[in-house]
Amino acid sequence: MAHIVGGIFTSHVPAIGGAIARGLQDDPYWKPFFDGFHPIHRWLAGARPDVAVIFYNDHGLNFFLDKMPTFAVGAAAEYHNADEGWGLPVMKPFPGAQALSWHIIEHLVNSEFDITMCQDMTVDHALTVPLALSWPGADNRPVKIVPIAINTVQHPLPSPKRCLALGRAVHEALLTWEGAERVVIFGTGGLSHQLDGERAGFINKDYDRFCMDNLGADPDALTTHSAVDIVELAGSQGIEIVNWIAARGAMGPHVHEVSRNYHIPISNTAAATMLLEAGQALSRVA
Ligand code: DHB
Ligand code: FE
Repeated sequence: MAHIVGGIFTSHVPAIGGAIARGLQDDPYWKPFFDGFHPIHRWLAGARPDVAVIFYNDHGLNFFLDKMPTFAVGAAAEYHNADEGWGLPVMKPFPGAQALSWHIIEHLVNSEFDITMCQDMTVDHALTVPLALSWPGADNRPVKIVPIAINTVQHPLPSPKRCLALGRAVHEALLTWEGAERVVIFGTGGLSHQLDGERAGFINKDYDRFCMDNLGADPDALTTHSAVDIVELAGSQGIEIVNWIAARGAMGPHVHEVSRNYHIPISNTAAATMLLEAGQALSRVA
């Protein structure tokens, strides 16, 4: 059985990667956001995960509008990054937890999730920025990864309810895994933001607070809205909250909040960071 240590939830704005590359963490614009990672660095030093299971969305680097899987799970030995056009340095490859990927894929298909399995998959800023935030240092590769991409780009989008169920099925897969790796779950993207159209720059603090207040104790509350409701509430890219919802499902039923940070704006986004620690399931407390 894998040992799930916790969940890291964070915005993945590409400009954060630019700020890291230029060493701007203490610049007045960036400091309020980067300061939110100090508690995460302290916690990671104690939690010592071996593997990161990362729920994110691809923005056109690996999948484009012509072929868009609803859910895709990586099963590669390593994952390459490439130039997305944001001016970010291309990151060196990330090692894959390949055997665990296949176990998760088998469990998901047996659980009737019709996922796409990817033995070759490039990873974009939605995966590289959260890892660079969590483990500073461009060559730092302390964990192997299992990337799980959710379509937040091409309508029709999966429902938040289905994304939570996907995460819960990944949790079951982790409980039935033969290894004893320490696993941290990531949910990336959000919170409210809209990059395009008449509502470009749209942010909804009330909805963001609702998400952060309920994510730990009552994630089902976040599934009372449809995907289209969330586009209206949080902006066309605010729907990336489904990555957080799936990641929360993968943590299991019991979590407690260690830290949170919320700062407006980073680029066009209400930038948020949360750290939840995983607890024992009641049934396993003797
Ligand atoms: C921005 C936010 C995103 O989630 C993204 O994928 C790209 C850009 C932004 O606010 O600039
Ligand atoms: Fe995004």
